[in-house]
This record gives sequence, C-alpha cells and structure tokens, in this order.
Amino acid sequence: MLTRLFFLMVAVTTFGGGALLHAVSPETIELGRGLFEREWPVKDPRLGGDGLGPMFNGQSCVACHNQGGVGGGGAAEFNANTIGIESMNIKGHSVDNDVIASMVSKFHPGFVQLNGSVVNTFTIPHRGGSSALRHLNDILYQHVPTVRSEFGGSTDASEVRHSYATPILFNYKNNSHEITLRARLFQRNTTALFGAGIIDAVTDNQLMALTKLQKAHPEISGRPASLRDGRIGKFGWRGNVGSLVEFIDQACANELGLETRRKPQPQDPLNREYRNPTIDITDAQIRAMHNFVSALPVPTRRIPDTSDERAEASRGEQVFNSVGCAVCHVPNLGVAQGIYSDLLLHEMGHELIDLNHAEPYVVRRTPIVRHDYTELVTTERSLGSMGAYYGATTTIKTNAIPIRRQSFQATNRRLTRKPTRDYKFVAPEYPSQKLNFIDLINEQIGNETDEQILSDGRQQITEEKLSVHAYIRLHYEPTRFNQEWRTPPLWGVADSAPYMHDGRAETLLESITMHDGEASGTRDRFLNLSLSDRPALIAFLETLVAPSNAPQPRS
Ligand code: HEC
Ligand code: HEC
Repeated sequence: MLTRLFFLMVAVTTFGGGALLHAVSPETIELGRGLFEREWPVKDPRLGGDGLGPMFNGQSCVACHNQGGVGGGGAAEFNANTIGIESMNIKGHSVDNDVIASMVSKFHPGFVQLNGSVVNTFTIPHRGGSSALRHLNDILYQHVPTVRSEFGGSTDASEVRHSYATPILFNYKNNSHEITLRARLFQRNTTALFGAGIIDAVTDNQLMALTKLQKAHPEISGRPASLRDGRIGKFGWRGNVGSLVEFIDQACANELGLETRRKPQPQDPLNREYRNPTIDITDAQIRAMHNFVSALPVPTRRIPDTSDERAEASRGEQVFNSVGCAVCHVPNLGVAQGIYSDLLLHEMGHELIDLNHAEPYVVRRTPIVRHDYTELVTTERSLGSMGAYYGATTTIKTNAIPIRRQSFQATNRRLTRKPTRDYKFVAPEYPSQKLNFIDLINEQIGNETDEQILSDGRQQITEEKLSVHAYIRLHYEPTRFNQEWRTPPLWGVADSAPYMHDGRAETLLESITMHDGEASGTRDRFLNLSLSDRPALIAFLETLVAPSNAPQPRS
C-alpha cells in the first residue's frame, strides 16, 4: 500500500515532467527565442485573449533579462516591487473580516483578494491597470520618496537601499473605525538565466545529501526549499518554484500578463468583474520558450590576461574555500559544474527580511488514510423505431467517502479574525505553529469497460472507475522564513550587478559585507583578511563571467 501511495504522490505532482515537456529541435529553440524577445501586443487576434496585461511589469522577457545577452540578469531599474504590511492596528466596533478588508482597502485595495480575504503583501504592477489603480499606485509611491526609473524599479542600488529603509506609515479614520499601519517596499532583482537548464537537472537527492552534510557544520545549516507536493524548489530567490518550465509559466502571467492554461493573469483590484475571454499563450509556446531558456549557454570562466592575474585569481579561490564561502557557494553540484551554489535556503539575518516569505519547511510527509473508491457507470442503448439510438445511464458509487479539501493556511498571510474591538497584526517571523495539516490527493488509477449485447438486442456498456483518496500529513519545522534565501549561483556573477535579491549591493565587496545570519562567521573571516587576500577573492569572483556565446538581442 505504501509504495502505491508514494507512486501516486509523484504521479500527481510532476506537471513539469508530464504536461509540457517534449523533444527539442533547433526550430522550437528558435521559436522560443522569438517569443522571449517578442514585444507582446495588447490583444492577440490569433488566440482571442486580451494579450499583454491588463497589468504587467514589462512588454517582453528580454526587456528585463538582458545583461550580457538575451536571458541575462537585469539592472535595478527593472526590479519588481512588492509592498508588505509589517504591522497594523484597527480600532473601533466589532472589527470583523469585512471591516479589516474595507479599512485595508483605504491603504490599497490590492491587499484584498478576489474571495475577500486580506493578505499582507501586494505586488504593484509597473504598468497597465485602470487609471484609478494607477492613481492609487502613485499615491502609495508618494510614501516612498525615492527615485524610480521609467521602468518601475529603483534607479540604482543606493536607491534600492534608500527605499527599503523608508517606512510607509498610513493612518485613516472614519466614523466607526481607525486603521494605523506600517509597511515597506520590497524589491526583487532580475536573475540571469544562463545555465538554468542545468540547474533544472540537479536532483532532489543531491540537494538532500548536501542538507545532511551541512547538518554537521558548526555555523551553516541550509535546508531544502521543500514544496508542499514533496518536491524541492530550485528556482527563484526563495527557491519556491520546482522546475524551470513552471517558473516560465508563472513569469508569462506575472510579468507580462499573459494568461496560461494554469496561471491566471493578475487581476486589477478596481476592475474585479473583468475576465479574459481566453488564454494568451499556448502550452506549445511555453514549451518553446522553455526549450530556448534551457538551451542558453552556461556561464564560463574568464582566463585573466597575465600570469600574475591568473595567480591572484587562483589564490582568491583558495581563500574563498578557506574562509567558508564554498560551504554554501558549492563549486560543483552534480551536473552543474562550476555553479557555486548549494541551491539550499539559508537564514541570512534580519537586514535581508522580505515579507514575501519562503515556503514553510516540510520535513516529513506521512500517508495516513487511503480509501479505494469505485464508480460503476452503466449505459444502455437500444435501437428506436426511427433507427436512432436512445440510451440511459446509471451511476453507482461504492465505498464513496465525502471529499473535503483542506485549505492551506501555511502562508500565514490571511488575516482572519473573530469580531473584536481592537485588531492587531504583526507580520509573523515564523510560519504558524498550527502547520501540521492534512493534504488530500485524488487519483484515478484504473478504468475497465465491459460491453454486452443483452437478449433483447439492447447494448449494455459498464464502465468501472477505480480511484484512490490518499491523505498525507505534512510535518513542518519552523524557520525564519522571511529571512531565508536560496544561495544564488555565482557562475556569471561578474556580469550581473547589482547584487543580492533586491539589487541593494552595487559591488561584489558590498554584497559580501551584507551577508549575515548563518553566513556571519564566514563574513567576519573575510573582513579580517589581509589587504592582499581580500582583493584576490574578488579577483576570483571577477573571473566568473556570462557566457561569451550568449545570444545577442536582435534590434
Ligand atoms: C519586469 C522584469 C521581468 C520580466 C519582464 C521578466 N522577468 Fe523573469 N525575473 C524577473 C525577476 C525580478 C526575477 C526574480 C524573481 C524572484 O525570484 O523573486 C526573475 C526570475 C526569472 C526566472 C527564475 C530564474 C532562477 O534561476 O531562479 C525565470 C526562469 C524567468 N525569470 C523567466 C522569465 C521569462 C520566460 C519571462 C518572459 C515571459 C520573464 N522572466 C520576464 C524579472 C523579469
Ligand atoms: C550561509 C551561506 C552563505 C555563505 C557562507 C556565503 N554566502 Fe554568499 N550568498 C548566500 C545567499 C543566501 C545569498 C543571497 C542573499 C540575498 O539575496 O539577499 C548570497 C549572495 C552572494 C552574492 C551575491 C550574488 C548575486 O547574484 O546577487 C555574492 C557575490 C556572494 N554571496 C559571495 C559570497 C562570498 C565571497 C562568500 C564568502 C566570503 C559568501 N558569499 C558566503 C549564502 C552564503
């Protein structure tokens, strides 16, 4: 029974492996490149969807992913922006969910979801949306008086730091209630995609082996970016996405407003009735883009010109190992040779907090209940007087059990409460302690059909469907999920400034000084290096460059 359950867990979760992946030809890679570079129009007559938008961050993938070639990282000016509510207080009579939703809407309606629940983070799209929404966004940005580029991100690393440091204080009062809140602008810097196809091929077993190895380390203990479905995430600054094709699927919707079969485009909170007539991008197109991104070349090592420089860089790599950088920035990870990352999450200290937290840490999954469930469908047909078939269908269910899906509250961002006089919210440091809940998996595992001609000439078809309902219990370990980041691969790092998840560091040296938490010991050993060893380490990092054969934008 157990083996069958584990088989099922895999069967239902590998969307990336099953639905979208097929063989690759140079033509689909070329097609994918065209789609990656395409400036998407509003409305695409071929598919009938609304095309780009209505809300979007850029008009093409390459608009942000362009450093060192098509698919590279992006400058801070392309950063994605999220507002996160750190704390709030609502005072007045019977403060219930409706009151919370309406008071938070006064700050910005983007915090209230379609189903009425309130969340404490809202990603502000750079472009599009109703003019009323753009007006509200402008008002919100007035709380963060820093310089933003015409693309929507901060103009440079120092403006990223400046906007991050600026508290957003909001107060609003009507006859019955008063809200006071404190929020902050969080940014995300564009990641380079060179080598992403290789990262996709790193196995969960390799990541589990590294996790085990680090358990014995006195300072450093990375953890896998466990996903709820049992896989380990490898993509995104939080490692919260399981495979490359899934990230691309989401990027289409989130960055360009291209609705996919799985991912709805973001909805304008001031135009909630609006529905896209259909999807904006097909699976074949997403597959082609995935083929292109997977085929992007892997970053390389630049060989310094003089022998002195070569010696310095190689000494720098030794220092990199000796102070402990290589414990997290692991040089080789399975097929990913020269990646300089363990792809694990590390607690990096309070200064790097961002309320779009990492997925809570699932340490174990235990199957607890299983029910077989058969459904018998009998269809009878007979020939009528006019020569046409008419028929009747009967359905019998056996062992049927009520199905109720448990809702996932692990994100801890729902601010639900019973009515009170005074509602206080503080963004949690850890996931909720109640995170020990049950997940339901449905899977149809068999189908048998039996046809019979009855004595009176009627035809009877009996179909038997066998399904399994499996319950899985997820066991969590609390971690400071707002401060955990996936170790970024350092291959190509010399060509992907600015650094860190939000691009707050202009230089490599700055980014190292910003390491804290699990990396504080390593950082201190680095800072205590002699004035000749420190530049050697930086010289080593500067040999890690973007691939020289990266595709260049066609203008
Ligand atoms: C507005 C700028 C912008 C646009 C446009 C954009 N991206 Fe990104 N991309 C980002 C940012 C920012 C991240 C980092 C997100 C995070 O991890 O939080 C990212 C991350 C990614 C990653 C994850 C890489 C990794 O190793 O973790 C992939 C894959 C990706 N983008 C693909 C695409 C594709 C495909 C498109 C077009 C459909 C696209 N992006 C459009 C900004 C952009
Ligand atoms: C505990 C694990 C750990 C150790 C040890 C560590 N790092 Fe990091 N490093 C990270 C994480 C996680 C980030 C991303 C943090 C963020 O984005 O806010 C990072 C970011 C970086 C970046 C920025 C990369 C980018 O693309 O933005 C550089 C450069 C870097 N580390 C170099 C080093 C060097 C050099 C050392 C040794 C002195 C070191 N790291 C030690 C985990 C570690």
